[in-house]
Amino acid sequence: MKVLVTGGAGYIGSVAVERLIASGESVVVFDNLSQGHREAIHSDAELVRGDLAAAADIEAAFARHKPDAVMHFASNLLVGESMEKPFKYLGDNVSNGVNLLKCATAHGVERFILSSTANLFDEPETIPISESECIVPGSPYGESKYILERMLAWLERTHGLRYAALRYFNAAGATSERGEDHDPELHLIPLVLQVAQRKREHISIFGDDYDTPDGTCVRDYIHVSDLADAHILALHALSDGSRTYNLGNGQGFSVKEVIETSREITGHGIASKTTPRRPGDPAKLVADSSKIRAELGWEPKYPDLRQIIEMAWSWHSKHPNGYGS
Ligand code: UFG
Repeated sequence: MKVLVTGGAGYIGSVAVERLIASGESVVVFDNLSQGHREAIHSDAELVRGDLAAAADIEAAFARHKPDAVMHFASNLLVGESMEKPFKYLGDNVSNGVNLLKCATAHGVERFILSSTANLFDEPETIPISESECIVPGSPYGESKYILERMLAWLERTHGLRYAALRYFNAAGATSERGEDHDPELHLIPLVLQVAQRKREHISIFGDDYDTPDGTCVRDYIHVSDLADAHILALHALSDGSRTYNLGNGQGFSVKEVIETSREITGHGIASKTTPRRPGDPAKLVADSSKIRAELGWEPKYPDLRQIIEMAWSWHSKHPNGYGS
């Protein structure tokens, strides 16, 4: 199968490309390299440098490469930023998705995989969170992903497009060749590891008065390679119809537990300071991924937080300046 991967130079997208190529698929990466890194793209994948905001760029890529399937990772992805710049999300994320979907349907693409998010569940009634949980997006970012999920449901009816919406909980970790390198970096694990690398003096703990065992927020950290594997399984399962899955390990870890585990792994003291809560952070997000386990036989290979952080630490130690080094 030929798969067009938007955002294939980004963190999760580049690992999905690695896994796609390992499983024998042919890959075209569509990326404007505004956030992604050319060095992150697997050497067997072809890069089309283009912008989802430019319909002509997408049309040219589809006309030339004629993909059978699309994986759509490229996106603005910061919950906090989306509260300050809602149109970057409700506008750009949505209109870029529309441009892509228009082209995909016009070219008869039958398989589409969307990177969706746990940010659909701002006020979960039941934890762990299953697919039957009521959807209450937590931010314009989450809402933009939900709008795209809804579009896909309609395009299935109008165009027979088969889709998988994969709702990631907290992607983390690295493969031996690819890791997390955002600018600016705002995610917990890479920031904690930057303290161990002496690039920053301390990690801020955003609130320790949540209703959780140690007062800090609890998240479900899922290894990026396990996420990527779920994409490959979903891609093939689309032969049997569209599907939506929540993707996490099913175990929650607090901010303090992440810091403590990182201290043990890096041997560095990792200074921390408690600061006020970050607006928009739910206390606890843990996935119930039993549906994808049962239907596709997906099983995380790295469910252990320690292993996830060890692999991230190994990548950051080898690439102290990220892909820039
Ligand atoms: N945190 C800190 N200090 C920091 C950074 C983060 O205490 O310097 C805390 C946050 O408050 C949160 C936890 O660490 O409780 C994880 O924060 P991240 O920023 O790493 O991740 P988020 O949970 O905010 O968001 C991530 C993705 C989103 C996705 C969401 C789904 O960035 O795109 O997971 O759960 F929607």
